[in-house]
Amino acid sequence: MPPNPLAQKDIDYHLHSYTDARAHQQEGPLIIERGDGVFVIDDQGNRYLEAMAGLWSTALGFSEQRLVNAAHRQLQTLPFYHTFSHKSHPASIALAEKLIDLAPVPMSKVYFTNSGSEANDVLVKLVWYRNNAIGQPLRKKFISRQGAYHGVTGLSASLTGLASVHQGFDLPLPGFLHVSTPHFYRHGLPGETEEQFADRMADELEALINREGAHTIAAFVAEPLMGAGGVIVPPATYWQKIQRVCRRHAVLIIADEVICGFGRTGKLFGCETFGIVPDAMVLSKQLSSSYQPIAAVLINDILYQGIADQSHALGALGTGFTGSGHPVATAVALENVRIIESDRLVEHAARMGTLLHEGLAPLKAHPLVGEVRGCGLIAGVELVADKANKAPFESVGKMGKWFTAQAHANGLIVRPIGDTIALCPPLIITENEITLLLERFTLTLEQTYARLNR
Ligand SMILES: Cc1ncc(COP(=O)(O)O)c(C=O)c1O
Repeated sequence: MPPNPLAQKDIDYHLHSYTDARAHQQEGPLIIERGDGVFVIDDQGNRYLEAMAGLWSTALGFSEQRLVNAAHRQLQTLPFYHTFSHKSHPASIALAEKLIDLAPVPMSKVYFTNSGSEANDVLVKLVWYRNNAIGQPLRKKFISRQGAYHGVTGLSASLTGLASVHQGFDLPLPGFLHVSTPHFYRHGLPGETEEQFADRMADELEALINREGAHTIAAFVAEPLMGAGGVIVPPATYWQKIQRVCRRHAVLIIADEVICGFGRTGKLFGCETFGIVPDAMVLSKQLSSSYQPIAAVLINDILYQGIADQSHALGALGTGFTGSGHPVATAVALENVRIIESDRLVEHAARMGTLLHEGLAPLKAHPLVGEVRGCGLIAGVELVADKANKAPFESVGKMGKWFTAQAHANGLIVRPIGDTIALCPPLIITENEITLLLERFTLTLEQTYARLNR
């Protein structure tokens, strides 16, 4: 067992503080000062295994010198230039070409933004623009899923299927519709097989399209594997059935790969893991290991041609950011993607993912654990009050927070999503570090259980 980096009194302090919202607010944030591989170090010198890669973000960990060097080189050569009014620069061009090369299905063009939210926002606008251009001005509605996370700008928050992102903001905007979360463990009916559940999910989508009128539905937007919504792995036939419905009604398929992209699910893209053929993709986070803020929208030629014709007719495509394709961000992202390739990190992540899931599997028998799920280097462990009937805790989220505080005290950073504990370590994690992660996770689970039964 690893040495406990914090004293028992600290554990009690953390746990106690989470039972009192006011005290928690007064406690202030955990201040992280430094990074070292898969570890981060706080302002008190405590070292944590960062099992969330920050925000599902950094493939290369927290101290990759090659990315620092790439940023430095670019800052010395061309610290800023823009991509407006028929101008560009080598880093942006090289990254766009690289992404087109790597895309799992033929893609035509790349559009850079500074965040995943902006990328989804721009994508909605591009689809509207294109549908106006091709004479289908009524095809404007977007369908996504309850529990999905696609960002927080007006349009991307409307795609997001979380009440916490909508309430108080008058969101979602009209024309943004949500179908069910494909979570069999939680939403499967008694006696229903996973296969039948996937049929039901596809039928629900088709019924919604028919109800609204297919001629009004622009696109279906989804993460291949839902991350922030609780690490939801769809049933095996889900994507095949959903795509059949979309194609039947000429509804575009948009894959939000912001978390799944660049090896997270054990293949380069989540679309490959789940057999998705998207018309557009959104990439971010592991694109630059989040060393620089950047996201990319990839669109296929079907989408691009309408946009090109329309902007030619109108004289401009009136959407862009000062930082779109920023030289430093694109240079760092290009270096990051090259390192993922040259260090064979996708294969490595698949191997480490197998170890992670083998290590988590025995926890399925634990009385506090309802479900262990995930694939590749992403996992969710759902804590329940009553294992036999899957009953959640009365106060949803409280146990997740307890667990997380205890994990912090044990030198492990995880993330609670309600009472599901998410794990998403950097792709560079080693076998020994996976063992350490599992030891600290298991210890935390036992301590949480002991406390519950105290
Ligand atoms: C799947 C997905 N899409 C979009 C976003 C939004 O990205 P950003 O926070 O960079 O705006 C996130 C962020 O977690 C995400 O997980």
